[in-house]
This record gives sequence, structure tokens and C-alpha cells, in this order.
Amino acid sequence: MPGTMGIAHTRWATHGKPSEVNAHPHTDCKNHIYVVHNGIIENYKAIKDELSKKGHVFKSETDTEVIAHLIEEYFAGNLEQATLKAAKYLEGAYAFAVISIDNPEKIIVVKKSSPLVIGLGKGENFIASDPLALAGYADKVIYLEDNELGVITKDSYQIISTQHKEPIKKQEHELDLNAAKMQKNGHEYFMLKEIFESAEVIQNSIRGRIIGKTGEVKLGGLENLDKNRIKNINRIILIAYGTAAYVCLIGKYMLEEYTGIPVDAEFGSEFRYRKTTLNAQTAVIVLSQSGETADSLASILEAKKRGALVLGIVNVVGSTISRETEAGIYNHAGPEIAVASTKAFISQIVILALLTVYLGRMRGKMSTDISKQITFQIQKLPALIEKVLKNSKQIKQLAHKYAKYKNFLYMGRKYNYPIAEEGAHKLKEVDYYVHAEGYPSGEPKHGAIAMIDENFPSIFIMPNDSVYEKNFSNMEEIKARNGKIIAIATEGNQEIKKVVEDVIYIPQTLEMLTPILSVIPLQLFTCFMGIELGCDVDKPRNLAKSVTVE
Ligand code: M6R
Repeated sequence: MPGTMGIAHTRWATHGKPSEVNAHPHTDCKNHIYVVHNGIIENYKAIKDELSKKGHVFKSETDTEVIAHLIEEYFAGNLEQATLKAAKYLEGAYAFAVISIDNPEKIIVVKKSSPLVIGLGKGENFIASDPLALAGYADKVIYLEDNELGVITKDSYQIISTQHKEPIKKQEHELDLNAAKMQKNGHEYFMLKEIFESAEVIQNSIRGRIIGKTGEVKLGGLENLDKNRIKNINRIILIAYGTAAYVCLIGKYMLEEYTGIPVDAEFGSEFRYRKTTLNAQTAVIVLSQSGETADSLASILEAKKRGALVLGIVNVVGSTISRETEAGIYNHAGPEIAVASTKAFISQIVILALLTVYLGRMRGKMSTDISKQITFQIQKLPALIEKVLKNSKQIKQLAHKYAKYKNFLYMGRKYNYPIAEEGAHKLKEVDYYVHAEGYPSGEPKHGAIAMIDENFPSIFIMPNDSVYEKNFSNMEEIKARNGKIIAIATEGNQEIKKVVEDVIYIPQTLEMLTPILSVIPLQLFTCFMGIELGCDVDKPRNLAKSVTVE
């Protein structure tokens, strides 16, 4: 291409199906102004209606296109002035970039809630959503804050507050050009880096999906489905493998509690050969980080054949499962490099929480108050996760202390029973010299408790929830057999210290969201213990990141 300036965006659909006409950039009526946008414009409909009345003609189904037309509406020769005026009317989460054929030497960028970074090179400057993309191109970066507008040319930049219209002095940060190190964000292993991204992952997974303060959830990927098909669902089958299969178990508890729909959680390899009756009112929902897992894929084909509505919750955009399902929800957890799934796991839980609210409201089973409460608590998760991650030093010490043991039992109840399974799964997978099993806390006394002695530690996941007392009694059963116990408990719980050897605290949240906080200490414990034991925590032996064989 002959040009020396350009903007582009790899889009996922919030409004309108993936198609050429909905692809970025979007333009104004005269094709003078071009816009790319990451995020969601919540009030786009009102803006579109108003501009249409004034004669603007829209070409796409996207929310983004309103930005180009709004700037056109205000344009009087100065692109940044027009953009500043337009930004005043936009509600939602956005980072967008604007160019105009009338000002061919500059890019205007505006940020609110979605990430945006400016990269400074020599005789060339860049913009991106993530500094990683700039490794090898820019020497320094500037992170835009919310409500800031940037005017960028090939050798200059200027930042202005969109609220006070004043210039802002920004700090330039050195960008380490070592791409490999950049990729790990300073961590020794991808697994650690990915666990430490958890707060950001939740933000990315929920961005644009919770509407203001009304407690409504918007899932763009389900928008093109006939609403009646969703309303008529009378059975849900959640299908996945490994770590994602434990998310299905959590989803079962959430969906049954708040939507009243009966839910099964199954392994694809079992489901595909089971002669269960499916019909148009059955929703088969497949969860997969990679979107390539063979048995999950086979289950999709089988479910389609038997007439079910087949949906996907997938992290890798454009993967086979995302293409084979009728509709779905992307995780937006970002690339997961370590074989052990950590950040995808928590994003899958939060997506199922959003789906629970979406279905609960749509089917009239959830009150506005409850949905407001759930969505409010979901939005608080990133800050709570940061608090949990602050315990990483303590968890590292515990990993050191317990690295000499060869067997572990993980136990939990209700929402945290799947976390016991996942904790044990992670330990077996990553720390392959150690054996672990996950159980519902009430179960070991029917068999496994026979193995307990002072050399067989147990991990109890027991936040302050509706089954805390029951869990406590089960923990005392283990204690009575001289079992050493590590507990994951809610901050402020002092009584537990009398029974357990060690306790890791997590903050209080809604019961259905506790797995997101309780799993993080277990992921860290596994990772630190694996490092201690000399395992390659990013690439455990005998395993592959995506399992594309039956
Ligand atoms: O890509 P998928 O989510 O479909 O993969 C499913 C399992 O193979 C995966 O979760 C596996 O158990 C991970 N290694 C767990 O950490």
C-alpha cells in the first residue's frame, strides 16, 4: 500500500454479525472520516436515530459507525475539536482511533475503559491496545488514561483531557525490546504471568456486557438468535474437558439456582455416545479454551444431528468450535500459552455467571434486584482478585513447606466442590510427581478417609457460604485422623485457625462467585510447588495445549 498512515482493528461482534460491511474501519456519509473502535457504545441506538433524522445514512449494523457520523456532524475543519465534541455524547467503554482525508497527517485517539497505548518510535509512532504488540517497533510507550484524547503524528503527540480540554503531560515508559521477556511480563513462567493477569481477564471478559446500573446483561454473540428459542430452553447440557469441565459443574450450580432450568455437566467423550433424548428446547453449551478439542467438537455435531440448540463459550476467536456452534460467547481472556489453563478457567466462570443473569432475566426467573446484585459483585471482582494475588508470597512459602508430600486431598462443597476437583487436577497436571484427588467434602468418610494420616495433607476450600458449617464438620473429621489441613477461608475467619495448620484468606463475595477467588490460591500453590519440584510448569510432560484427537 502506498500510504504511510493507517488504522485497523481485529473485531469481534458486539453488534452485527461478522461480515465485510460490519468490519472496521467505519466511515461517515462522505467517506472522509474513518474510525476503528474497541469496546461498546451503549447509547449508539439513540445517537443513530437522532443522526438518521438529520440525514445521516448508516451502512453497517455496528455501534462503532455512530462515532464516525457524530464526528462528521461536528466537523468544521478541525478533527480533534470535532472528536472532542463527539466524545461528550458517547456512553460505554471505548478506545477508538480516527483519521480523516482532510487531515491526512494525524491519528486522533480517545480512551474510556478500554485499553490504549501509544508507542513512540523514530520518525514513526504507533497506537495499540496492548504494549506487547509494539515490541520490536517502539522504544517507549505512553499509557492513555480514561477521558484522554491523543493527537498523534509520525513525530509528535499531544494529550488533552476530554473533560477540561487542557493539555496533559504524560510519562513516557521504556519499552523493553526483548519480545520473549515482554511476553512473560517479567515473570519466569507463562503460567505465573497468566495467573497474575486474572483481574484484567475478568475486566476483558465482562467489558461491554453489563449494561449500566440496570443489572442487564448483553451478550452480543447471542443477539442474532430468535429470542423465543432462548426463552423456551427447558434443559441445558454443559460439555467440556479437563479444567473447563469443572467450570461446567460450577455452571450447573449457578444456572439451576438462578434460572430454574435443569442442567447436566458432562465430558464430551461420554455425551457423544450416550443415548439421551435431545430436542429444540435443549441447549447444548460447549466450553473450550482452544476451541479445537476433538471430543467437544464431536459432541457438537452429535447434538446438532439430534436437533438441539448448540452454543459455544470459546476463548480462541475463529476456532473450529466457535465456527461449528450456532452462536456463542467469546471469553476474551487473551492468548493462554501455558498448557495449564488458569486465566481461561476464571473467565469461563464469569461468562457462565453472565449467562445465568442473561437467561434468568429473559425467562422472568430473576428479579431486577438479584441481577443488579450479581452484576455489581461481578464488577468488583478485579479489585478482589488483586487482593488475593497479594498473598502470593505466603502461598509460595506454603508450596515450599508442602513440597515434600506425595499425596493431597482437595475438598469443598457446592460451588467450591468443582474447585476441589480443579485444585487436584492442576496439581496432578503441573506437579507430575505428586498425586491428588478432589472430593465433595462429605464424601471421604465413605472411603478415602482411610488414607489420611499425618503424611497426607488436605486442602479445604471453605469460604463463608451456605455450606460453611457442614464443611467445618467434614474438616474436623480429617483433623481427628491427624490429617494436616490447609484452608482457603474468608477474610476475618479466626475460628478456623484453631483447626487448620495453615490458612489462605480470600475476600468476601457472592457465594456463586467465590470459585473465582478461591481457585487463584490453588493455581499459585500448584505453580510454585511445580517450580520447587523442578517441573516445567509451562509444558508438563505428556500433555498438549489443545487435544485434537479423540
Ligand atoms: O481447550 P479446551 O478448554 O477445550 O481444553 C480442555 C482440556 O484439555 C484442558 O482444560 C486441560 O485439562 C488443561 N490442560 C487444564 O489445565
